[in-house]
Amino acid sequence: MNSTTIRNWSLKPRSIEIQWGDGHTSTFHHIWLRDNAPSNRHPSGQKLGDISQIPAGIAPTSLDVGEKVRIEWSHDGQVDEFDPTWLRAHAYEPEEVRKRSRRPILWDTASIDGAPLDFEFPELQDSQAALRGMLQSVRDYGFAILHQVPTEPGSIFKVVDLFGYVRETNYGRLFDVRVTPNPSNLAFTGLTLGGHTDNPYRHPVPTLQLLHFLKNSVEGGDSTLVDGFHVAGLFRQAWPEGFELLAGMPVTFRFASEDADLVYESTIIERDVRGEVSGIRFNNRSVQAFNCPPETMEAYYEAFRAFGELLEDPANKITFKLGPGDLMIFDNQRILHGRIGYQAGGERHLQGCYADMDSLLSKLAVLERQGEEA
Ligand code: OGA
Ligand code: ZN
Repeated sequence: MNSTTIRNWSLKPRSIEIQWGDGHTSTFHHIWLRDNAPSNRHPSGQKLGDISQIPAGIAPTSLDVGEKVRIEWSHDGQVDEFDPTWLRAHAYEPEEVRKRSRRPILWDTASIDGAPLDFEFPELQDSQAALRGMLQSVRDYGFAILHQVPTEPGSIFKVVDLFGYVRETNYGRLFDVRVTPNPSNLAFTGLTLGGHTDNPYRHPVPTLQLLHFLKNSVEGGDSTLVDGFHVAGLFRQAWPEGFELLAGMPVTFRFASEDADLVYESTIIERDVRGEVSGIRFNNRSVQAFNCPPETMEAYYEAFRAFGELLEDPANKITFKLGPGDLMIFDNQRILHGRIGYQAGGERHLQGCYADMDSLLSKLAVLERQGEEA
């Protein structure tokens, strides 16, 4: 018997219990069933009635199980029918919920080898399947590398157009990265940039970043990427107390210029409501003086150093050189990017911009839906 076949069921005072073909047992509360009944949904999928229309002590007068689970409600005699497949797909035992949640594919230098990360831009324009593959790589590995993007300035927007919208900031719709006199940012020098996430002083932080290479004929100037989620996991395992400090004590990030003053307080490692690592904010240039309590300061520095060293460990950090027409797109809450320093002489010119992960995931969901229908 399979996981959506109902083997047994029973009506309890406040719920129904279903035993599935695979042996798992699910509880569905009466209140939940009435709230989520198909009759309570508009064809658009949006819910119709609100909670005030459901009595607190709601109960069925009858329960029949055949092809559908059929419930008649006591307070108004309404009949609702549930598809067993739908019920199983919405079972709310924590292990069932966990099974359904998509987890990133964590990587290090060794394991990323051979992953599908390189894509030709012209193919992405022509083929929905190719585009789907690229967006899946950004979702699962946190990044993708595109080739053959036109080297005309502004072509980065053609890439964003494939899946979403530019997130404009005080740096403009795009920003140029090259050596400039009187740089406002170390990015506009030839200095090495350690692994970092961009703009941690914003809330919400830009969730996607694109860097498009127009020129890169300098010696050095290689790019680096690190999976911050993988490293945070290593750190959590190796030193739980250090992890708690970086995930529990806030620090302040700031960017100030003549026309901007952006400040945000956050922890370096962010967790979601389930306690999973959901974001990294790590940027040596914009982090302000730590202000954790005196008795914690030295331990905090120890944790900060240990995490920083793990991020720079060659076992975790990949290094590669991109040239004209290459573009990398990455999850700015997960992947830390950096570069190796370079000398003046030769030319290096990048254009960067930000975009939103939610529109990328939405585009991907639509493409995956169409793929299933095809
Ligand atoms: C940046 C940055 C990397 C590079 O501008 O945000 O990190 O390769 N640049 O110059
Ligand atoms: Zn950067």
